[in-house]
Amino acid sequence: MTNEKREPKRKIRVGVIFGGRSGEHEVSLMSARSVMDALDREKYEVVPIGITKEGEWVVGDPMKALAEGEKTAELATLLPHPNSSALMRLEWQETEPATLSAVAELDVVFPVLHGPYGEDGTVQGLLELAGLPYVGAGVVGSAVGMDKAIFKYVMAANGLPVLPWRLVLSKRWSADQTAVLDEIETALTYPVFTKPANLGSSVGVNKCHNREELIAGLTEAAAYDRRVVVEQGINARELEVSVLGNEDPIASVVGEIRPKRAFYDYVAKYVSDDSELIIPAELEPEVAEKVRALAIRAYQAIDCAGLGRVDLLMDRDNGRLYINEINTIPGFTRISMYPKLWEATGISYPELLDRLIELALDRHEEKSRLRTSFELESGE
Ligand SMILES: Nc1ncnc2c1ncn2[C@@H]1O[C@H](COP(=O)(O)OP(=O)(O)O)[C@@H](O)[C@H]1O
Ligand SMILES: [Mg+2]
Repeated sequence: MTNEKREPKRKIRVGVIFGGRSGEHEVSLMSARSVMDALDREKYEVVPIGITKEGEWVVGDPMKALAEGEKTAELATLLPHPNSSALMRLEWQETEPATLSAVAELDVVFPVLHGPYGEDGTVQGLLELAGLPYVGAGVVGSAVGMDKAIFKYVMAANGLPVLPWRLVLSKRWSADQTAVLDEIETALTYPVFTKPANLGSSVGVNKCHNREELIAGLTEAAAYDRRVVVEQGINARELEVSVLGNEDPIASVVGEIRPKRAFYDYVAKYVSDDSELIIPAELEPEVAEKVRALAIRAYQAIDCAGLGRVDLLMDRDNGRLYINEINTIPGFTRISMYPKLWEATGISYPELLDRLIELALDRHEEKSRLRTSFELESGE
């Protein structure tokens, strides 16, 4: 039937979520702009969804609304009902009953959110409840990737190398400073790093060379989080690997970051912007292989999915490798390490987006085939 008109294939409707209640709000906007610019409009219809710093979801022109703090932004929401894949506009005035109207039926969601309330499993939980496929790790992978302490426990349980460290509860720090300091000084040697367990972008991270600096570091980190990680500092090379996939992930070439400052702190990451990215890192081939294999094992250990950037530290004094962290939604601008490593490995930025959306749909498909109820066989 040659003259029959073929239905044009319907485009995949991708909700791109950005912004969020996080110190990395601005970084997320940059990543999301790059993602939305690169999504192939022949294949995808893009629905931008912003989350303000206060946590309100906005549609319409959310990038503008977030950038300019416009009060006219249209509020939106997703419902935690499976099979309700519609993004809803929410009209809500104090004196009137609230009304909901569908903005768009989404096929898949791409959360381009960094840090708390986005990269930590919270948004992923809502998307699970709504029954929507989404890019990236699920609830557990996201949460474990976010919490530096739990992450280290999971690495250690899988025989993966992490630096010596101690967990300090902020409550305990305020109650018994001397005991905490003594304990850390017994377990570790200066310099040590103090880190809030659940932030990113080096916010609240300090390198402490003595007791006085340790007190300041713990106090600052405890102001950000209920839990603080204190970690053995080493003279480190910083290596990063991009990982892509669900059950059978692949690893990119290894990259290296050479910060110009004392360490790769917030200023080095986003303000001075003068850190060197070396792709591929200068490593013996067998060392690079080892780094990539460790990255894949770390990724699988936390049940990561879709994507993740695994950051490792290599001790310059003896060449030992340690897993530092996984970012389950790594920086995603065109000049960010995650896509640049893939480009160097042979996967272009737009192709990377295609693969991530495909992986999201595959994973959802696979999950939807699982049994959700249990019935005893009769006679048992
Ligand atoms: N144990 C360590 N030894 C040496 N440098 C470290 C250590 N831990 C962290 N750093 C430095 O601090 C930076 C930020 O720490 P990181 O754990 O990666 O936190 P974030 O999640 O905020 O990126 C690292 O990129 C590195 O430069
Ligand atoms: Mg880091």
